[in-house]
Amino acid sequence: MIPSRVFYYAVLRISTRYVRGRVPAVRPAIRTRRDFSAEAKAIVFETNGKPLEVLKLHTFSLPDVTDDTILVKFLASPINPADINQVEGVYPTKPPFLTDEISSTTPLAIGGNEGAVEILEVGKSVTQFKPGDRAIMRHTLFGTWRTHAIANILDLTKVPFPSSDITAVQAATASVNPTTAYRMLKDFVEMKHDDWFIQTAANSGVGRAAIQLGRLWGLRSINVVRDRDDIDDLKRDLESLGATKVVTEDEIKDKGFRNTIKEWIGNREIKLGLNCTGGESTTNIARQLSTGGHLVTYGGMARKPVTVPVSLFIFKDIHLHGYWLTRWSDSHPDEKEQIVNEILGLLKAGELKDVPVDEVVWTADMSDQERLDAFKHGVERYISGSRGRKQVLVHK
Ligand SMILES: NC(=O)c1ccc[n+]([C@@H]2O[C@H](COP(=O)([O-])OP(=O)(O)OC[C@H]3O[C@@H](n4cnc5c(N)ncnc54)[C@H](OP(=O)(O)O)[C@@H]3O)[C@@H](O)[C@H]2O)c1
Repeated sequence: MIPSRVFYYAVLRISTRYVRGRVPAVRPAIRTRRDFSAEAKAIVFETNGKPLEVLKLHTFSLPDVTDDTILVKFLASPINPADINQVEGVYPTKPPFLTDEISSTTPLAIGGNEGAVEILEVGKSVTQFKPGDRAIMRHTLFGTWRTHAIANILDLTKVPFPSSDITAVQAATASVNPTTAYRMLKDFVEMKHDDWFIQTAANSGVGRAAIQLGRLWGLRSINVVRDRDDIDDLKRDLESLGATKVVTEDEIKDKGFRNTIKEWIGNREIKLGLNCTGGESTTNIARQLSTGGHLVTYGGMARKPVTVPVSLFIFKDIHLHGYWLTRWSDSHPDEKEQIVNEILGLLKAGELKDVPVDEVVWTADMSDQERLDAFKHGVERYISGSRGRKQVLVHK
């Protein structure tokens, strides 16, 4: 029997010659799993700074698969706010700066934390995955803005559904935002059926997940968003996900609006506030909390501090918390995997709708410059305010 590695290289050589055009342009009957090429492309940065200035495209050779490693092809990877903060150097966790591993003489970090991959090849000791399986990143800091990688089993969580049930984009965006919403609705206060929560930036990825999980768990929500020309469309959109009420930042800052909220909630309580922004909008949702309510801050999109009137502490016994999924995931790896699987199941069942997306498309025939330009265009859309549309790198 021909050892698989010998066979593999023999076919790879044939395939490479065909690609270079030394023989007629007819593909050989036998295709290697590495027909795509043995190189990867990634969006990297050498120094922290403004993403549009420091991001560049890097091409490097992939090491061979060893007994316990896995060759993966990326299918989709979002551009999340935390990814941008890592490029800027203002996020607490930093990606590793690599040299030899990515054929670079200067240390480079590959951007991106979330992503969905297809397994192309597994080492002979790997039994958990097989070629054709799909997986998502188990941890942050893998560097997901790239075409291919060598991973190991601890890097990946299998997606237990085919692409007909869960799209690559859904899988690639399932592990961070919905899990954050899930835990925040569970971990800070016991929410009973028909209890209310209130949140800022309700059209964010996290906010949309909170609305939908809240609906599934019988909770009611007041959802604050920034005003915009098509505000009625956004209100209808969020209501279709299960938002009980959607209001603008301007509406909620009016003192008289408190009476409207009282009419909505009746004798129920607003026990929980989820804060994605900081600044005035946060102060305004804190004011709506019932006595003993909890305000959980998980994002700072407005880049302003959380300011809460003294009276809310003294007379309403409001509690302030912070939440960081990374910290929780590090201490609850198995529970995290269970929740991600539950979320994938909800996506498959159509109970959770995926976030609106702008695809940043990479195709195999694109030049390096075209890839970089397309990616930076996505970053530009993110920076200029993508109005709740997630930018996602998609490989086609
Ligand atoms: N702590 C954690 O574990 C954790 C986990 C996941 C995410 N996060 C954080 O949660 C936040 C949202 O992440 P995401 O992926 O859900 O975001 P996303 O889908 O990209 O949405 C961003 C949201 O921020 C809003 N926004 C942007 N600039 C704003 C400003 N100046 N003032 C008020 N709102 C503003 C946007 O509203 P418009 O539509 O009006 O632009 C949109 O609703 C980020 O800060 C992220 O780092 C934290």
